[in-house]
Amino acid sequence: VTIHRGDYRPPEWQIPDIALDFALGIKETRVTAALSAVRAADAPAPLLLRGDGLTPAEVRVDGAVWNDWRMDGSDLVVDLGDRTAATVEVDTLIHPATNTQLMGLYASNGMLCTQCEAEGFRRITFHPDRPDVLSRYRVRLAGDRARFPILLSNGNCIASGEGEDGTHWALWEDPWPKPSYLFALVAGDLVVNRDSFTTMSGRKVDLGIWVRDGDLDRTHHAMAALKHSMKWDEEVYGREYDLDRFNIVAVSDFNMGAMENKGLNIFNTRYILADPDTATDMDYDGVEGVVAHEYFHNWSGNRVTCRDWFQLSLKEGFTVYRDQSFSAAMGSPAVKRIEDVRVLRAAQFPEDAGPLAHPIRPDSYQEISNFYTATVYNKGAEVIRMMATLLGPERFRRGTDLYFDRHDGEAATCEDFIRAMEEGGGIDLTQFRRWYEQAGTPKLHLTLAQEGGEWFLDIVQTVPPTPGQPAKAPMMMPLRLAAFAMDGGGAALPDTLVTLTGAAQRVPLGAFAARPALSVNRGFSAPVIVDYERAPGELAWLAAHDDDPFARYEALQQLMLDTLVAAVSGEAGNRDAVIGAVARTLAGAADDPAFVAEAVLLPSEAFIGDQMVTVDPDAIRSARMALQGAIGDALEGQWRAILGNPAPAATDLSPAAKGRRRLRGVALAYLAATGKEDVAALAFGIFSSADGMTERQAALATLAHGDSDERAHALDIFYQRYRDDPLVLDKWFQVQAWSLRSDTVAAVAALAQHPDFTLANPNRVRSLYGAFAANQAAFHQADGAGYRLLADLVIALDPKNPQTAARMIPPLGRWKRFDVARQALMKTELERILAQPGLSRDTTEQASKSLMG
Ligand code: ARG
Ligand code: ZN
Repeated sequence: VTIHRGDYRPPEWQIPDIALDFALGIKETRVTAALSAVRAADAPAPLLLRGDGLTPAEVRVDGAVWNDWRMDGSDLVVDLGDRTAATVEVDTLIHPATNTQLMGLYASNGMLCTQCEAEGFRRITFHPDRPDVLSRYRVRLAGDRARFPILLSNGNCIASGEGEDGTHWALWEDPWPKPSYLFALVAGDLVVNRDSFTTMSGRKVDLGIWVRDGDLDRTHHAMAALKHSMKWDEEVYGREYDLDRFNIVAVSDFNMGAMENKGLNIFNTRYILADPDTATDMDYDGVEGVVAHEYFHNWSGNRVTCRDWFQLSLKEGFTVYRDQSFSAAMGSPAVKRIEDVRVLRAAQFPEDAGPLAHPIRPDSYQEISNFYTATVYNKGAEVIRMMATLLGPERFRRGTDLYFDRHDGEAATCEDFIRAMEEGGGIDLTQFRRWYEQAGTPKLHLTLAQEGGEWFLDIVQTVPPTPGQPAKAPMMMPLRLAAFAMDGGGAALPDTLVTLTGAAQRVPLGAFAARPALSVNRGFSAPVIVDYERAPGELAWLAAHDDDPFARYEALQQLMLDTLVAAVSGEAGNRDAVIGAVARTLAGAADDPAFVAEAVLLPSEAFIGDQMVTVDPDAIRSARMALQGAIGDALEGQWRAILGNPAPAATDLSPAAKGRRRLRGVALAYLAATGKEDVAALAFGIFSSADGMTERQAALATLAHGDSDERAHALDIFYQRYRDDPLVLDKWFQVQAWSLRSDTVAAVAALAQHPDFTLANPNRVRSLYGAFAANQAAFHQADGAGYRLLADLVIALDPKNPQTAARMIPPLGRWKRFDVARQALMKTELERILAQPGLSRDTTEQASKSLMG
């Protein structure tokens, strides 16, 4: 069944109050739900309560047993006659231990926890389960005291006590009305890191991060990130926390990153636990970003929620933009922008160019879980960023203030957000709304023109056709640009913000004696592909002299990309220009090692493939390795010098220390590419003496590409040391799946049989198969063995965890970009998946759309 955005109808019943009673057990949990239903429709209408895998044990209305109900598929329809209000009680029995989907109430590591977004609440009890039905919750949790000493839910604990036979109970009340997807409970044997935060109006908030015994020492970074987030949201958006307690619980088995349940965020352990011995600097940044993201949802998502799931980007795009801005403020804005754009290009651009392309506000879906995408999240954030750029900080803040004030307590739409921007910011966004309607990455084709001594930039905008959207209209976007006279003399056009609206537009650049160097889409002001041919000399000049660091990064990347694309098609390219530019950039390493490390990194194999009509994975890998080797050789002295200096202490998490470690990792990779004999020993030395995971993992990953004795030795040491630490063991699987070795497909197949591999844990599945599918040359091995391996996984995982299975399909959907032989092999695997009996709605939607192309 396909759900359409245009079919939205307001709910016929509201449920202002809910009382839930849980008799908790791992195998069996009894749930009694009392819904105070109030009719919103004018005429009598039955009460539709959605269910998924539930059977009602008994239904009562206003206290009396009620027989006027029927099942409609898995939903419960209660006929309430012409009543306008009623208390409807339903008893159900659920089975957390066998809930392998990890949606609803499930067991993880002996504890009970919930995941309700988007439609998991209906796996706990019958309920309208749509985000425009908001209720005040009172939740009573009862269970065995020894097994579940800690009982948590949303809001405040207002009473607790002892029961019979070793049980105890707790009563939680959340004063803020919320949709069912924000409900949460946790029961288990947990320890807590407690702290507090005093808000700007003086409310003292008790903070708690709950983890399993033994993990407490790894929660300090998350706690610091939480406090920084609370302060930042007050300062930058004027948003204050609104309860007396804020709890976070870390669980090992989790489909996504984390969940913003009101006052009780539930996290994948991966985004909470960090200490220098087990987490890399990137892991630390992931913790900080996700803690902030979920906290910021308290306003952008919870206080103002979504009317329906088509509006998902309303909360996710905005909240990603907020967490990106926060992380930029905590570290280096330039490096953060580079990382965010890299993620967008790696995950979202391919989505926008493939069979699963959809606008940030989709028009239809079969399974909403399939729309927690890079488009809704990351492109959604770019769309908010463009509005912020068009308005400037003050007017953007007036827009967000108006949005929060006007819609507080409501279930809002993307349109509501845009209107608040228009009214609060004083701008007409009529044309800008197309970003919510049209899928596909716009392309800007640029040419320079000269008239007299005056220079002009001619911009032609096209938006490519996408499934269901053959013709597109031009988008409105902010384009930041500057122009430089490369000889140093003459005029320069300083940083300028141009608002593009037309399909073709001319921008005057001013008078230049010679063709100026053009710095365009500075800071990545618009999420577009710029098509502009520049000579290597111009790119090299910009890489060295542009005053926008992001533009310097882009210029060097473009120079590398041009050379790599030329090499793939057997042309010479301009290696010397690349080596020269890398050398000059490296000279600034002492001042800003983090930026330099990002800038000198070669574009990924996948991104090189994105530039080609037909992707040739093997030629791309050879070309990239050859260029890496050439840069490694030419600048060998510099790489060795970087590694010759002592590494900063792993406990030093300052941006400068992180930058130096990052640059050391890059230097090691360049040295390894030279094939010099001593490099394996050098890497093994770093691996063995490292005092933290950043250096250790970088060295292990470098060794994993080769075939030295040190490789096997290091992998073995790492395994023995961390075999009981699931998050670190994930890295052991991951570095092997990333390997550039030619036997990686076979290695991944063997690792899938390893006793520590399990389909029950999504992190483990992603660390092996997610990493493998991102390993372009391995996944696209010409005989199709990589495709077969991934399809086998999808088929095995789908019956247990359809959501995570469906997320593995997009790599197979890129078939159109490859040669006919690979196309046939990829389509064969999609067909094989689709032929499985009882395939989930999640996987069916992704595989069938992927096959259609
Ligand atoms: N709202 C969560 C976040 O953005 C994502 C939860 C999605 N979970 C899911 N099972 N679809 O952090
Ligand atoms: Zn989110």
